[in-house]
Parts: sequence; C-alpha cells; structure tokens
Amino acid sequence: MPATDTVRIQLPDDRDYEIRIGSGLLGEARSWQGLPKAAAAVIVSNDKVAPLYAERLRERLLAVYARVDLVVLPDGEQHKDWASLNRICDHLLGQALDRKTVLFALGGGVIGDMTGFAAAIYMRGVPFVQVPTTLLAQVDSSVGGKTAINHPLGKNMLGAFYQPERVIADLDTLDSLPDRELRAGLAEVIKYGPIADAAFLDWIEGNLDALLARDKAALAHAVRRSCEIKADVVGQDEREQGLRAILNFGHTIGHAIEAGLGYGQWLHGEAVACGMVLAADLSQRMGLMPAGFTQRLRSLIERAGLPVQPPRLGAERYLSLMRVDKKAEAGGIRFVLIETLGRAGLHAVPDERIVETLAAHGAV
Ligand code: NAD
Ligand code: GLY
Repeated sequence: MPATDTVRIQLPDDRDYEIRIGSGLLGEARSWQGLPKAAAAVIVSNDKVAPLYAERLRERLLAVYARVDLVVLPDGEQHKDWASLNRICDHLLGQALDRKTVLFALGGGVIGDMTGFAAAIYMRGVPFVQVPTTLLAQVDSSVGGKTAINHPLGKNMLGAFYQPERVIADLDTLDSLPDRELRAGLAEVIKYGPIADAAFLDWIEGNLDALLARDKAALAHAVRRSCEIKADVVGQDEREQGLRAILNFGHTIGHAIEAGLGYGQWLHGEAVACGMVLAADLSQRMGLMPAGFTQRLRSLIERAGLPVQPPRLGAERYLSLMRVDKKAEAGGIRFVLIETLGRAGLHAVPDERIVETLAAHGAV
C-alpha cells in the first residue's frame, strides 16, 4: 500500500494548505488532526456518496468535533444550483451554527464546488475541508479554491475563489467509482501532461492500463503529480489573471459540448477529453505544434475510453456557445493552446480556424 503523500499549496496571507493523498485516510486519525477548532462540523454529501462513506467520516470527525451534522443533497450536475446551495444554508441557519463551523465536502466536484461556495458565503466565510471521492475531484476540482454553482445561462457562472483548509484524498474511495467516472477523471490527469510536464504525458501513456485497472500505486502517482502541477500553477496565479487559464486546456470546446447537449449528457471529463483533441488540432493549425501531436493525444484519449468525436452541433452553435466562455474577450474566442510539449498559453483564434477544426472532426 503506498504511503501518504503530502502536496503543499502555497498562497499569500497564511492561506497555505496541504493536500493529503493515500489509501485508508478515512480510517486513520493523523490526516484529521490540526483542523480549525469549532463546536460543530457539517458533512455535505449526496445521496450516492453519503451511504458509502459519510458514517466513516462522521466517526472520524467525532474524535475532533463535539457535534457532526450531515446534509445530503440530491446527486447530479443538474442539482449544482441555487436550490442545493440553499439547502446547505437552510441547515446552517436552521441549526444556528456559528461562524466557526467547519464544512466537509464529501463527494465529487459537484459537492466540492457547492460546499466551497456555501462556506464562502455563510456568515461571510467559514472554514471548509475537501474530501474528494472521484478521480476528477482528487486531481482537479478539490484543489485551488474555485467554487461555484451553475446558472441556466452558463456553467459555474456564480461562484467565488475560496480556499479550503485542507484536501484529504483517500484513494480507497475510488474503488466504488463507476468506470465511466474513473475515465472522466483520467481526462483531467491527461490534461496536465501537454500543458505542464512532457515526461508526465510519457508516464501516463506507459501506465494507462494500470490506471484503468485502478492500481493503487499508479493512481497515487497520477493524483500526486496532478496535484503538484495544479498547486504550482495556483500558487503563482490564484485568481486566474493569466497562467491559471492553462488548466482549462480542452475546456472551451468541452464547455460548449456540455452546454450544447444539455448538462449531464456527457460527463465534464468526457467533454474536456474531446475538447483537448480539438484544441490540439487548433494548436497545429495555428502553427504552434508539429504534425502528429493531435494524433498522439487522440490515441491516448481513445485508449482511455474517452470520446474523441464531437457531437454535430453545427459551427454557429459551437461559436455562440464558446463566446459565453469566461475566457472570452472582444477580439476572438480565446483557447488554451499547446505551444510546446509541457507548455501552454492563451491564444485568440480566428473563427475560420475554429470552423476548420470543427469541420475536420465532423462537428459541423
Ligand atoms: P460528480 O461530483 O457529479 O461525481 C460524479 C458521480 O460519481 C456522481 O454521481 C457522484 O455522486 C458519484 N460519486 C462520487 N464519488 C463516488 C464514489 N467514491 N463512489 C461512487 N460514486 C461516486 O462529478 P465530478 O466529475 O467529480 O466533478 C464534476 C464537477 O466538478 C463539475 O461540476 C465541474 O464543473 C466541476 N469542476 C470544478 C473544478 C474546480 O476547479 N473547482 C475543476 C474541474 C471540475
Ligand atoms: N479547473 C481549472 C482551475 O482550477 O483553474
């Protein structure tokens, strides 16, 4: 069994925190020590994850907090909304819980993003801890302090930057994750190679079968290296003034696919995977990457069982969906493009190039 890894995320104003990664963390005491003191803790989870892990977490937290409540929300991206956020706030206010109360987000990215947002706004901010239980949440959404809910007019459009006190990623929780969700998480793991670490891309190519087989040592390495890269980027650019945007490689087209098909049709990671193939193609068309790069990434994504063929939504629909992306500015839709293996940047791309890429992949 791999030992616990700790990745530190360094932020100004004494807001550094640790990401702890390992097997069996829900059952051991060490990872839960030293958290903010409070009269009460509240676990926020959903009706799929709570029956699996909430009692174990509650037992662990009762060693630290005199009172531990549980709020169970309906599962699903379609519930990442005001109604669910209100249910968390209703509980906190209904139980008259004070401004020291610590929230624990037990679940995937949906629960993590919503609980973080609730923590950011309840009494102008209470501490929270991320306990991610999907691969996607362990390698991406639980780290870095982006919190949000969706609005019918756009995904993650209402939210705040608000950092957790700690991230505790128990690899054993991935045992119960459906295959499709594991694959979706692998999309975000793959993302870190082209944007930040060419050697990591080689490693993923060589270890994909072990990752798909849920080999714990392989998963531990993938989660740790992903978190190191994300921690490094967020430490340099917490509020996405520039560099942090590279973490959105594949997301501009990915978000358009999610919104265009209706949230929940494709998983976020699936849409990002397909978006990365098209963004790789754009990187080539813009003269940044040599021929062969798109094919290399496409083969890896296909081997991971992720979609590489975008839905046929039509050029106009794609363009209009991409114009509402948070990265969009006057002067053309901006994409994260790969400049050389292991380095990425934001580039405004003319509509003609985008349409060429969409057409080359059967999207129009
Ligand atoms: P999710 O939270 O919907 O979880 C996926 C499914 O797996 C759900 O049905 C969930 O209940 C279930 N599940 C979770 N853990 C499980 C487990 N251990 N065993 C069995 N089932 C389990 O989706 P996700 O892929 O984790 O996260 C996607 C969300 O994250 C999106 O809303 C996306 O916008 C957001 N996100 C945020 C950031 C960020 O930086 N904040 C980054 C990437 C994605
Ligand atoms: N997932 C992109 C970010 O955290 O910035």
